[in-house]
Amino acid sequence: MPALPTAAIIGAGSSGIAAAKALQQRGIDFDCFEASDRIGGNWVFGNRNGMSAAYRDLHINTSRERMEYSDFPMPKSYPDFPHHTQVAEYFEAYVDHFGLRDRIRFETAVERAEQRSDGTWRLTDEHGESGAYDMLLVANGHHWDKRWPEPAFPGSDSFEGIQMHAHDYRDNDFLAGRDVVVLGMGNSAMDIAVESSYVARSTHLAARRGAWIVPKYLFGKPLDQILTLPVVPHWLHARTAELIIRLHTGRPERYGLPRPDHRFGEAHPTVSGRILDRIIHGTITPRPNIAQLGPDWVQFEDGTRVHADVVIYCTGYRISFPFFDPAFLAAPDNRIDLFRRVFAPHNPSLAFVGLVQPLGAIFPLAEAQGEWIGDYLRGEYHLPTPSAMEADIRRGQSRMRKRYVASKRHTIQVDFDRYLFDLRRERRRGAARAVAHGLTLPVPPRAGAVAGPPAHLGAT
Ligand SMILES: Cc1cc2nc3c(=O)[nH]c(=O)nc-3n(C[C@H](O)[C@H](O)[C@H](O)COP(=O)(O)OP(=O)(O)OC[C@H]3O[C@@H](n4cnc5c(N)ncnc54)[C@H](O)[C@@H]3O)c2cc1C
Ligand SMILES: NC(=O)c1ccc[n+]([C@@H]2O[C@H](COP(=O)([O-])OP(=O)(O)OC[C@H]3O[C@@H](n4cnc5c(N)ncnc54)[C@H](OP(=O)(O)O)[C@@H]3O)[C@@H](O)[C@H]2O)c1
Repeated sequence: MPALPTAAIIGAGSSGIAAAKALQQRGIDFDCFEASDRIGGNWVFGNRNGMSAAYRDLHINTSRERMEYSDFPMPKSYPDFPHHTQVAEYFEAYVDHFGLRDRIRFETAVERAEQRSDGTWRLTDEHGESGAYDMLLVANGHHWDKRWPEPAFPGSDSFEGIQMHAHDYRDNDFLAGRDVVVLGMGNSAMDIAVESSYVARSTHLAARRGAWIVPKYLFGKPLDQILTLPVVPHWLHARTAELIIRLHTGRPERYGLPRPDHRFGEAHPTVSGRILDRIIHGTITPRPNIAQLGPDWVQFEDGTRVHADVVIYCTGYRISFPFFDPAFLAAPDNRIDLFRRVFAPHNPSLAFVGLVQPLGAIFPLAEAQGEWIGDYLRGEYHLPTPSAMEADIRRGQSRMRKRYVASKRHTIQVDFDRYLFDLRRERRRGAARAVAHGLTLPVPPRAGAVAGPPAHLGAT
């Protein structure tokens, strides 16, 4: 076997550790850089990296059996929708089970990732140390860089209460007895409005667009375990699901929520078993979008005005790579062109893990992506030509534009089962290409071997 390329992984969240395991099992030397003192990223409540959005009562909304890694089941003692502490414990157990812990460089944020003319990478960390690698895997997460309303609402600079982003919300203590406006119709807005409704004097849920709200359970089963056949066309899935929701809860406007301007499945799913209850109990009042703010009030687009002490913007996230020179790579308006959401078509030594927004859980998709990259690094998979990848990307984008509501939250959407199905097929095709090319290494080992723990920082 020829020498294999070395790799660096940025991030030891659920995506980075899945990629690390895949590389380890394929004998590829790597270093995994983690800004925090622990793994788990978003799922570490109060993570010292400041990048976790977890709140005290956060329960995952993808079900246990659909989010576990394929070769490491979640404990059967876990509920169908575990608490964030259980999710974080599961990742810790995964890392120990596969012996990955000492391959992770904790408290070592990558500050700069620069590609050299021969395609290899030079990474510089927060301690000023640097190292060289053949391949870079980016797994830095995409739910930590707050997206505020753009542009800010008129009068927001005159508001004298608290304006905050969902990312900074931890628990509802500070909302007790206050008048609260929550903006958005995604899952953060649902959870936070419900939590607010138990303690606040009033909770207003403002939205610029309606959403189809689905419960976590239907027919006695977790929602994401129903309608899972990958080959059933999306429209059929969606129409069936819409019919079920209409029979089960009725249309959203019956609850005073805005009428969705789209069919079910044309927006990222909003999952909540509790919000409709809280609305019909009168503890949450649906409102249209915010029009303007005054010192202690918020006015909505229908002209109604309410007293407000706190405004919580649940307006989503930006995709960011602070370690890249923006001229090299950025994701303006969350757009980034990647072959099957992983490979940069013109950069054979760069890949992304977990940069997907599935209708379903991210973890098994990150696992499959890691295995795919691992096969590639061993020369057992070859990519299509750059022009074929670009054409594939254009087709994917056109499908996404046709299907989804135009929004910065819908740029990296995939269907869980269909994505895995297509990836398996693509891996088979690429394996045949690799054999046809004599199993050559697409990324030659040039940067020098990673020494393993303690790794080789300082080498160039
Ligand atoms: C409130 C909330 C609830 C969610 N619920 C679900 C759910 O139910 N199901 C689901 O599938 N997904 C859910 N998600 C999506 C979430 O993004 C994924 O669950 C998961 O956290 C993605 O893992 P990741 O490893 O890609 O990113 P992260 O969990 O964000 O981990 C990224 C890691 O990279 C590290 N890192 C970043 N930059 C650097 C750097 N420069 N150098 C070194 N290390 C770095 C960070 O410290 C972090 O540990 C939710 C997101 C939010 C915000
Ligand atoms: N319990 C859980 O497991 C849980 C809890 C929270 C979050 N999450 C996950 O975390 C991720 C992020 O969710 P999120 O809810 O924080 O963000 P999100 O899904 O991106 O939703 C953002 C919401 O804000 C709205 N919005 C954005 N900009 C706006 C503006 N300027 N004015 C008015 N409305 C605006 C969007 O409307 P448009 O649709 O019109 O753009 C959308 O309703 C998702 O993957 C979600 O599933 C999971």
